Amino acid sequence: MKIETFEMERMQSTWENVVEMDMSESGVRPVSLRELAEMGLDVDSILAMPLGYSQSNGTIALREELAKSYPGATADHIEVTNGTSEANYLLALALVRDGDEVAFQVPNYMQYGGVPKSLGAKVSHFRLNIDRDWEPDWEQFERAVNPRTRIVYISNPNNPSGSVLSREAMQRIVRRCDEVGAYLLADEVYLGAEIYCPRTESFWGMSDRVIVTSGLSKAYGIPGVRIGWIVGPKDVVAECWSQHDYITIGPNKISDAVARIAVQPENRQKLYSRTCAILQHNLPIMREWAQSFSGFLTFREPRAGALCLMRYSSSTPSFELCERIRLNQSVLVVPGAHLGLEGFLRIWLGGKPEFLTEGLRRIGIELHAEMARA
Ligand SMILES: Cc1ncc(COP(=O)(O)O)c(C=O)c1O
Repeated sequence: MKIETFEMERMQSTWENVVEMDMSESGVRPVSLRELAEMGLDVDSILAMPLGYSQSNGTIALREELAKSYPGATADHIEVTNGTSEANYLLALALVRDGDEVAFQVPNYMQYGGVPKSLGAKVSHFRLNIDRDWEPDWEQFERAVNPRTRIVYISNPNNPSGSVLSREAMQRIVRRCDEVGAYLLADEVYLGAEIYCPRTESFWGMSDRVIVTSGLSKAYGIPGVRIGWIVGPKDVVAECWSQHDYITIGPNKISDAVARIAVQPENRQKLYSRTCAILQHNLPIMREWAQSFSGFLTFREPRAGALCLMRYSSSTPSFELCERIRLNQSVLVVPGAHLGLEGFLRIWLGGKPEFLTEGLRRIGIELHAEMARA
């Protein structure tokens, strides 16, 4: 199986621990074990825990707790995975066969740019249009989603635009999937990270062809435990479990215990509120900074997520610009080219305010130089 390089992940893993300032992140600064202990995590019981294998599809207690937030779901509709990325990967392994098609929303987290192709599928893109408030380009969508399509992948809220689909757009997407017999894979890992807008509606329950993936990495602020999940039709979930047996067997036992605390409704709300407070505090700093470029930067503010996507007015490829920022300022940001959208930069919004201010100052030095050149 030949798989193309996942450019953003590879760039991050190469440089994120080398640069002075990693602003390529996409979640809020992470929660500590101490904070989780204050929410009821019994650290002593973790110290005493025999480190055996855990239940490979997630403990019943965790799956039952998760099922409560997906109406109609039971523990059998859920597979707990090592991060949302494993959830997405298992679904591709379970559902995609050589010759299938996969429709992929761009810009996006590019996992589904690479994985289905490695399994022999053709990947067709449909764009979100910045000039129409990130509404999907419906012509491209209708073309990309056809009777050969096995999976339609979207992230909602979207990485990297921070946009959220309208109710009408959601219904249109689901209707089309039903018409052609495709599964809709809605990656909802940013659900709960809304900044000012109401909670994003889940796709769950809109059709029996809807599959949702999510995890603790973004809205919860707990990426390090690597817990994600799939919620889907029982037969699809059972097939994912079979794939899971071959790959990682299951999630780590300590992580499952941490997740059982994090997803309790009261704690989930606390964690979402923490995320929201961080983002609400930082967004005006980012806004003011973007405005100081007198039109060189176009910034459509994110509705959710710790991501800010900036369009810049020059023809320099985004990778080249990011390399300059990394080499001259020791700051890592994500080029739009790694997200399916040339001419943009993605800058992290989830750090401490003083970190954000200093990072933006450094990025600004390079952007001002670029502006002068343009
Ligand atoms: C849309 C989306 N899905 C999945 C992931 C990976 O998440 P996890 O850390 O839960 O594997 C990311 C990470 O940036 C993402 O943006």
